[in-house]
Amino acid sequence: MGWFSLAIGLVSLCLMVCTVSGIGANWGTQASHPLPPDTVVRLLRDNGFQKVKLFDADYGALRALGKSGIEVMVGIPNDMLQSLASSVKAAEKWVAKNVSTHITTNNVNIRYVAVGNEPFLETYNGSFLKTTFPALQNVQSALIKAGLSNQVKVTVPLNADVYASSTGLPSGGDFRADIHDLMLAIVKFLSDNSGPFTVNIYPFISLYIDPDFPVEYAFFDGNATPLNDGGTSYYNMFDANYDTLVWALQKNGFGNLPIIVGEIGWPTDGDRNANRMYAQRFNQGFMSHISGGRGTPMRPVTVDAYLFSLIDEDAKSIDPGNFERHWGVFTYYGVPKYPLNLGTTNSGSLVQARNVDYLDRKWCVMKPSAKLDDPQVQPSVSYACGRADCTSLGYGTSCGNLDARGNISYAFNSYYQRNNQLDDACKFPNLSMITKTDPTVGDCRFEIMIEPYYGGAERTRGCLQMPLSLVSGLGLFLLTLL
Ligand SMILES: *[C@@H]1O[C@H](CO)[C@@H](O)[C@H](O)[C@H]1NC(C)=O
Ligand SMILES: *[C@@H]1O[C@H](CO)[C@@H](O)[C@H](O)[C@H]1NC(C)=O
Ligand SMILES: *[C@@H]1O[C@H](CO)[C@@H](O)[C@H](O)[C@H]1NC(C)=O
Ligand SMILES: *[C@@H]1O[C@H](CO)[C@@H](O)[C@H](O)[C@H]1NC(C)=O
Repeated sequence: MGWFSLAIGLVSLCLMVCTVSGIGANWGTQASHPLPPDTVVRLLRDNGFQKVKLFDADYGALRALGKSGIEVMVGIPNDMLQSLASSVKAAEKWVAKNVSTHITTNNVNIRYVAVGNEPFLETYNGSFLKTTFPALQNVQSALIKAGLSNQVKVTVPLNADVYASSTGLPSGGDFRADIHDLMLAIVKFLSDNSGPFTVNIYPFISLYIDPDFPVEYAFFDGNATPLNDGGTSYYNMFDANYDTLVWALQKNGFGNLPIIVGEIGWPTDGDRNANRMYAQRFNQGFMSHISGGRGTPMRPVTVDAYLFSLIDEDAKSIDPGNFERHWGVFTYYGVPKYPLNLGTTNSGSLVQARNVDYLDRKWCVMKPSAKLDDPQVQPSVSYACGRADCTSLGYGTSCGNLDARGNISYAFNSYYQRNNQLDDACKFPNLSMITKTDPTVGDCRFEIMIEPYYGGAERTRGCLQMPLSLVSGLGLFLLTLL
């Protein structure tokens, strides 16, 4: 009896305390076969995620999040910054359609609007330098006008490359020289409007771009030689990077600005340092590191963070690297890739997605009779990989040890599954055949695709597919509806 009420007491204490912080997840949808939004929301809830970050304002995702209680950060993609920057009206329409409606009619707990996504990344070559701040201001005005500015805060998720340290130590932190004034204007605006500073921190990328980066320093349980910053020891890159930002903020007079870690995680494939073992070690290490609200040396308080990512996205651009499609803690079909205790479930383990519909157990492979030197092989593989996903092939990846025939089969199968197992998608000239024998070898999985999801009725209605002439004819009518 006593134990029982103690347990109940702890649960209700947790309901009060745990809902305040908790771990979040990024939910990206650049997948050929995204799971239905209701399935994803169930997955989030079953795993105790209290916060989710979206990269756009996907209607289906937001509708599914309604009444879940999960806190939502809605995203504005970079390609919309220009229009939102140039017109307050556009920002007002965006807020009306993508925030107000969801809060009032769908009961979605929207708390943040993320204006742009890493818009100042050096690889974007300054494309969004002029539009990000005006877009931020217009969205904030629109939120005020809609009466939502108390509940919904604006922010800009930035890559950690917006700041740097001249000394290599956190205390040398300041904003990048070429955008220093712009960063100060944005930081002041966020501070004035109670918006947080959102930063994405990626030790994996540091390791990926710098072969001399000390591997152990990327992890939290590593044996890295600590960095000594005026008597403070830094044992891992996350703390040092986060505190470089804290110093940059402090130096410019904003030492108390709240910080959100918008993305943090480790990929499981597509690079020699991207595997389940490292991903598990990093993410579990991070969870333990932030549990108990110890924070970092400069900010010894609860770290507010969103894991990147919830689910794999097989249609992401691989310009940054083949690992881009493998950030998920869960596979694209919602199965955990490795054990991870988020501290949010009774069992301490992750819970897989429910009621996922798979296609049949069949695969497309290279025919045993086909010859490796058949001149059709190379163009067929290029065609398949170009349209499907071969990022698990290559040095140090999960399928890196396949022989030449295995490689070809992998490519054929990927294309076949991507095309929903259409017979025509396994007709590489005289080279391919369909099999019911799973070609999976060891860690190298030949996946079966899931049923495609075509969207809910509301979404279909919200997306008018008709000839342009008709659309413009309806323009006036639609405007009055907006
Ligand atoms: C709402 O968000 C969606 C998805 O990001 C976007 O395509 C649409 O243009 C937005 N609506 C308005 C009125 O800006
Ligand atoms: C970067 O932008 C500058 C000026 O807008 C342009 O001249 C240059 O070609 C761009 N470089 C790349 C790699 O896009
Ligand atoms: C298999 O494909 C990968 C990636 O394209 C390549 O690096 C590797 O050399 C191939 N292996 C064989 C045995 O052909
Ligand atoms: C397929 O094989 C048949 C018989 O071996 C041959 O006649 C035909 O030209 C081949 N087709 C292609 C596209 O290579």
